[in-house]
Amino acid sequence: MRKIRKAVFPIGGLGTRFLPATKSMPKEMLPVVDRPLIQYAVDEAREAGIEQFIFVTSRGKSLIEDHFDHAFELEEAMARRGKSLAALDGTRPSPGDIAIVRQQEPLGLGHAVWCARRLIGDEPFAVLLPDDLMVGEPGCLKQMVDAYEELGGNLICTEEVAASDTHKYGIVTPGAQAGAITEVKGLVEKPAPDVAPSRLAVIGRYILQPEVMNVLGSQEEGAGGEIQLTDALARMIGQQPFHGVTFAGKRYDCGDKGGFVTATLALALDRPDIAPAVRAFLAAA
Ligand code: G1P
Repeated sequence: MRKIRKAVFPIGGLGTRFLPATKSMPKEMLPVVDRPLIQYAVDEAREAGIEQFIFVTSRGKSLIEDHFDHAFELEEAMARRGKSLAALDGTRPSPGDIAIVRQQEPLGLGHAVWCARRLIGDEPFAVLLPDDLMVGEPGCLKQMVDAYEELGGNLICTEEVAASDTHKYGIVTPGAQAGAITEVKGLVEKPAPDVAPSRLAVIGRYILQPEVMNVLGSQEEGAGGEIQLTDALARMIGQQPFHGVTFAGKRYDCGDKGGFVTATLALALDRPDIAPAVRAFLAAA
């Protein structure tokens, strides 16, 4: 079985839910405490053994490239003042570790992943959506890579959601279940609650076989008039093993303002340097 070395980060979205903050700044650069969202996803991928990070971007996202570049003036000034560069850990990858592909038109998540096909070639790969901030030990993708080594095929991360929320997610028709692993018998993108096959939702982490690129190449528009990754994956069920992995940890939906603020509070309460002040504020609120 081939090791998962490459990960695709579809980060071309406009982030309209966070306007005006995201008018000129990519939503993936919104910080939770002191790390931008994209960095949480990159750190999680690195922990899972990912060696090549493929950013599928769009116009207006160049701040993300700068974030993962050397900042010569900053680093030189910090070194001159005898300051540690530890705060920059994870932001200075080796040359060639990060590759950027442009998604010229916002045609959907499936299209964004397909834009990376030439860099993926013929090996299995991971997809991480930075809006889903996953906190756990080991990290979410590492848990999935461990499951992949047993199961192979295609894997999605899954989580039970409220019945009233099925229209926000890809939803699984579940088959046999064993511990954290659920066999995927069907997948549908954003079904209304009354037609949803279950409440088991697709969360933004995937391990996929390279054949999905061919499927995506011929994928028709789906929900919302977009080329959906979920629809392409649904077509692969039965051809390759397909499982959901329920993450042992906590997910914060940072694509949503409430989820984003919750993530900020939760991670702040986990930080010894700032937790006392935040806790005192919450106790008095
Ligand atoms: C995307 C996927 C959806 C998945 C979700 C997870 O939707 O299309 O299947 O459940 O991510 O966060 P989006 O949130 O981009 O609308």
